[in-house]
Amino acid sequence: MDIAFKPYNLMGLSLKNRIVMAPMTRSRALEPGLVPSPSMATYYAQRAGAGLIISEGAQPSPEGQGYTSTPGLHSPEQIQGWRRVTDAVHTAGGRIFAQIMHTGRIGHPDNSSESIIPLGPSAVQPKGRIFTAQGMQDFVVPREMTEADIEKAIQDFAAAARNAIEAGFDGVEIHGANGYLVHQFLSVNANQRTDAWGGSPENRARFAVRVAQAVADAIGPERTGIRLSPGASFNDIEDDPDLLRTYLPLVEKLGSLGLAYLHVIEQAGRQLTQHLRDAWPTTFMLNPDTGMNTPTDDRALRLIKDGSTDLLSFGALFLANPDLPKRLALKGPYNTPDPSSYFGGDDHGYLDYPTLDSQPVHETQPATDSQPVQEAHEAHPEVSPASAATTTFTEPATRSSSLRPSGRPAASAGSADSAGPARRAAPLWGRTLVAGAASAVVNIALYGAGFLSGASMIMASPQPALIPWFAPAVASFLPLAILGVIAWLITRKRPAAKRWFAWAGLAFAVISCASLLSAPDAATGISLAAMHLVAGFAWFIALGGGRKSAA
Ligand SMILES: Cc1cc2nc3c(=O)[nH]c(=O)nc-3n(C[C@H](O)[C@H](O)[C@H](O)COP(=O)(O)O)c2cc1C
Repeated sequence: MDIAFKPYNLMGLSLKNRIVMAPMTRSRALEPGLVPSPSMATYYAQRAGAGLIISEGAQPSPEGQGYTSTPGLHSPEQIQGWRRVTDAVHTAGGRIFAQIMHTGRIGHPDNSSESIIPLGPSAVQPKGRIFTAQGMQDFVVPREMTEADIEKAIQDFAAAARNAIEAGFDGVEIHGANGYLVHQFLSVNANQRTDAWGGSPENRARFAVRVAQAVADAIGPERTGIRLSPGASFNDIEDDPDLLRTYLPLVEKLGSLGLAYLHVIEQAGRQLTQHLRDAWPTTFMLNPDTGMNTPTDDRALRLIKDGSTDLLSFGALFLANPDLPKRLALKGPYNTPDPSSYFGGDDHGYLDYPTLDSQPVHETQPATDSQPVQEAHEAHPEVSPASAATTTFTEPATRSSSLRPSGRPAASAGSADSAGPARRAAPLWGRTLVAGAASAVVNIALYGAGFLSGASMIMASPQPALIPWFAPAVASFLPLAILGVIAWLITRKRPAAKRWFAWAGLAFAVISCASLLSAPDAATGISLAAMHLVAGFAWFIALGGGRKSAA
């Protein structure tokens, strides 16, 4: 069975497979009160075949709401509404995290019952327009957050996380992506602050880290995940062009909190993904960009097998295919998502996508009595307006179409395989250095001792018979050392190669220990073979070659 469909242990939470439903706003909460509806319970329960569902973004407070009809996580009625959703998912055998989304400067006073002016790190008006009850309107200039606003927003995230657990969610995901509040603080355009919350990468990361810390303190780090989209340009957001300067220290700081997972939307290429994956100590979840053209292409699933990620998330493809894991396992066929019913409206395009077991063929027709299609599209920058006609989903500018008319998912990168308790992996550089050092120390110590004792034996009583095996045994250290230097040089540029070097190190140790069976006596041969195996395993484990999945 493909590793993607094997169970996974997410910090003690058992997932039945490694396919995740990505968070997707559907703007179908009930007024008054923005309460999750009974249809939402059915929608999520239909997709309980996912290893994990991440809910649509839910605002932690009235000022965190940017769009119309998005559900909240801050009132008793909303908690009760979500309880219906989580019960339905759990009854269907699924797991579900709540995504907490504070939209920050992305919003409009007309979208809030209290006419709240959107908040932002700085008073910088985003370019673009937003769907409101009065139609499409320009974004407004946000109100620059005061210290008190910032503290309140952090505490609102923590309170919403507590509410999510009360509502029966298995955990929460902090929305730190796609140009919303957390990402606005990380950015170099929406954040123009000169105090402790802006300027240096460390200051821009402070809000994300404080939010993650507050949520982890509220519900436990093992129930807290975070989503990032380095390089995304959604919602007029601009990251520091040197993405690693912002995101590497951020990920290392977040990693030190012991969170359940990091969820990365792949925007800026596989190399960056790999750097972040290597820097992240627990479960890595990827919303991939493989540039795949057909849904039968299993490049995405291979990313789990090759260790690029532990879990793979799919958005639009999951929206249109309630039984997506089954279809992926069978390599299709896939329903085509209908962008015209993405946001708002009735149950058409929401509850009526068929499964393989139900009647075939979902005709993706434009919504009839649902909310205006094109406007709803433009209302949500996480989806391209152009996609209404083509179903091409063009998230960030750098990410090519992630969904083709055929319903094809954009790529993904996945990693590791097995189930088990979360394992902390050192960053690549650290791991490579540990590998080299471990191999060198073991080899030098063992071969050094062997060399000295062998040499002293030969000196004390010349035994030419020893030389034919003794010399090659010592010399075999040299190739292992050379391999180490080559591995170090190549994996600096191509992190994915580390796995192959791990296996090469192990293979070398096994092969060379076999040659030692020709040693003059069994005891010597076995001890030399053991030395090679110990050295080889140190190399293998330190490079991460034995890792199944981060779990
Ligand atoms: C209708 C729709 C709504 C979305 N809403 C959210 C959201 O609330 N939170 C979020 O983090 N991403 C949201 N996204 C982005 C998806 O989670 C995902 O990153 C994106 O669709 C790319 O993945 P895909 O190619 O598998 O669809 C949304 C995407 C779609 C299609």
